[in-house]
Amino acid sequence: MRERHSLSAWLQEVYGHGHDEAELETQLVRYQEAATLFRQSFGCEPAFFCRAPGRVNLIGEHTDYNCGFVMPTAIDRDIIIAGRPRPDMLVRAHNVEAGKYEPFEFVISAQIPPAGTGHWSNYIRGAAQRLCQEYGAAVRGADLVVAGRAPHGTPIGVGLSSSTSLTVAAMLALAHSSGLALEGQRLAALASEGEWYVGTRGGIMDQFASVFGRGGHALFLDCLRLPDGTYRLERIPLPAGYRLVLCNSGVRHENTRSEFNTRVFECRVGVYMLRQQWPQLRSLRDLDSERIGLSHEELNRVLEELPDEVSGEELLRQGVAQAVTGDMPHFRVEPGRLYRVRRRCRHVVCENRRVVQSAEVLKAGNAELFGQLMDEAHRSARDDYEVSVPAVEAMVEAARSAPGCLGARITGAGWGGCVVALVEEAAVPEFLAAVQERYCLYSGRVPELLVCNSATGAQVLPL
Ligand code: GLA
Repeated sequence: MRERHSLSAWLQEVYGHGHDEAELETQLVRYQEAATLFRQSFGCEPAFFCRAPGRVNLIGEHTDYNCGFVMPTAIDRDIIIAGRPRPDMLVRAHNVEAGKYEPFEFVISAQIPPAGTGHWSNYIRGAAQRLCQEYGAAVRGADLVVAGRAPHGTPIGVGLSSSTSLTVAAMLALAHSSGLALEGQRLAALASEGEWYVGTRGGIMDQFASVFGRGGHALFLDCLRLPDGTYRLERIPLPAGYRLVLCNSGVRHENTRSEFNTRVFECRVGVYMLRQQWPQLRSLRDLDSERIGLSHEELNRVLEELPDEVSGEELLRQGVAQAVTGDMPHFRVEPGRLYRVRRRCRHVVCENRRVVQSAEVLKAGNAELFGQLMDEAHRSARDDYEVSVPAVEAMVEAARSAPGCLGARITGAGWGGCVVALVEEAAVPEFLAAVQERYCLYSGRVPELLVCNSATGAQVLPL
């Protein structure tokens, strides 16, 4: 059977590195399950498969929407789609976890009505809407079956970008169905805008990681758009002899939308204030550039001069709130809340420096120093950006005190989710046992610990 043969060869290419035969067989079963449900649901064979992985961010948190630097890597957990183009604009979708994710359908347009908050269809709607806004009548509908079940699916709600896996996979499926061959950067940028549909004003990191992942490598990404509309990226080899271990705090970050947008807002207020002195400033990223021409010391002084806290009332009265939230229709500035400007900006500026330094030390093979930068990044995310929670702190401490750990930090947006630790490969079993024991004492639960591999980015397999 051609399908089985080409599928096996493809799976070997995608999942082959560092995996054994049994693992490839398991992957084959996932794809076959999606194809079977496709036949049952739509009465014909799927015409293609596509997949998009989750990601773990190694360093560079909350810098992407400030046009700064990030360094994520795609992980070997993904969402797969079996699909078939339709001649009309209808999208119909089923999920292999039918009990959790009910089937749905919608018609593609430039303004697709959303389903209720948190509904899984919104990621596919967002991808379809953004594609339609860009390519209009060229976009076609599709029948889709989605599979992202544990343990191979991208874990949900733990900061590993399951939402991005779904958005990128859906955009890839719809673009392929429409005969649009989207170049990687275009796909990643459009998918990131497609995700705004669900209400968070995130940056481009997750989607670029999902599209540009490569086994054994991290992605150094400069989130400042170049004049030709593209972004500068570079793949950095991860040091041999170390593993990334994802330690799930078990706290799901479900209600982060408003706090996430609050951080975006606070950074924008900082930029607005700094512009009084430097009108040429476009984002916090520019602070550290020739555009402004400040030395590190001068820049540190400038940051200290920003107000620590400003009330929403004051920002509304001065028109600052209105000036910086024009493209955030769902965000409300609360008059009675204090917004923290100085420490947010300080985190972003210092984090950018850490990412640039991380790329250098990794290229030089200095895993120890990279581990220290991860620790520093964690402290900054905790103290200046204030995105940590007690369970994550307990997990960072558990990881940090375990054998073989070089560095550990909260990863992703924050307010729960995973800690990423860099661990000496030989010490991984002891590390896992120690973290498990310590975190269990804290939470009374056995934590989920995942030794992950960096993985290949999103792809389509026509059948
Ligand atoms: C979320 C967003 C990303 C990024 C991170 C924080 O994952 O989707 O764009 O802002 O948070 O670094």
